[in-house]
Amino acid sequence: MSLPAPLPPGKSTARERVRALTGRLAIPAIAAPMFLVSNPALALACCGAGIMGSFPAHGTRSREELHGWLDQMVEGLRRLEDSGAAPAPWAVNLVVHPSNSRYPADLELVERYRVPVVLTSKGAPGEAIARIHGWGAVALHDIANRRHAEKALEAGVDGVIAVADGAGGHTGTINPFALMNEVRQLGEDFAVVLAGGLTTGRDVRAAEAMGADLAYIGTRFIATREAMASDAHKRMILDSRATDIFLSVSIDGAPANWLAPSLVAAGIDLDVLRTTLPGRIVAAQENRKRWKDIFTAGHGVGNIDDIPPAAELCRRLIAQYRAAR
Ligand SMILES: Cc1cc2nc3c(=O)[nH]c(=O)nc-3n(C[C@H](O)[C@H](O)[C@H](O)COP(=O)(O)O)c2cc1C
Repeated sequence: MSLPAPLPPGKSTARERVRALTGRLAIPAIAAPMFLVSNPALALACCGAGIMGSFPAHGTRSREELHGWLDQMVEGLRRLEDSGAAPAPWAVNLVVHPSNSRYPADLELVERYRVPVVLTSKGAPGEAIARIHGWGAVALHDIANRRHAEKALEAGVDGVIAVADGAGGHTGTINPFALMNEVRQLGEDFAVVLAGGLTTGRDVRAAEAMGADLAYIGTRFIATREAMASDAHKRMILDSRATDIFLSVSIDGAPANWLAPSLVAAGIDLDVLRTTLPGRIVAAQENRKRWKDIFTAGHGVGNIDDIPPAAELCRRLIAQYRAAR
């Protein structure tokens, strides 16, 4: 197994460590990790086209399957390198909340493969950060407000993923300008990745103008050939606009954006959902099944009208970004 080289040592600030990574990308963008959507095929297509690819460790059903996905990444990247390409760095998302019983074993595997970027989410990244830095990787943690960002920075992360209002999956609820400005008040020596509703290369450029180092693009990548999302999920994204996105805390306890037509199809009364207490499970019982029955997406759906191969989408984003510059 050939392992990716760790980042060059001696970078003085966290932001510079992240910039060393960004310099290996065609544009400063990450194809965000998405449960039941991202897989090695999608991540490799992005990396091959110059955008950071990723997947969540918990997108696999077992440690053995994660092992297989990590092998696929290493082999796929080696193939790209053998063909003369310089693939973009890749990332794995780890849920660091104590409720994730697979976390210690998954972290151990991610360490063994020296994954160059670890996207931690939920809970406090805590001692994971020193371990991630120990193999030369960059650690970026999901946050939705300034307090979360302060705690992540105290834990030593290299940057925060500022999840603003309108993001797919578990979303923030703060306007992106307001969130960026509050987070940047904490300093300039860490990286910020901006998430929520970004679908074009021009949006990536706009995120930079707002003070972000990188853009985090999820929903746009659901509608790609490689994404594991069901055809029904992909079709619903093409048919939906921002007004079809329904924010609810009640489905699984955290604010999340859902495609309203999928809630209705699952027999959920939207008026009842509006007044259902947070954390009350109103869909299927088991988490994996719940996310299969009903679909999540961000406000960007209204700007998505095709299902291209991921590399073609990346080329389009790169051209749009360059035109915007
Ligand atoms: C279908 C779906 C699944 C997601 N699953 C995860 C996940 O497993 N882990 C995670 O950190 N974020 C997850 N997210 C959030 C994304 O990583 C990212 O923050 C979000 O998609 C950005 O907003 P956008 O969809 O508007 O581009 C998910 C988002 C979507 C749409």
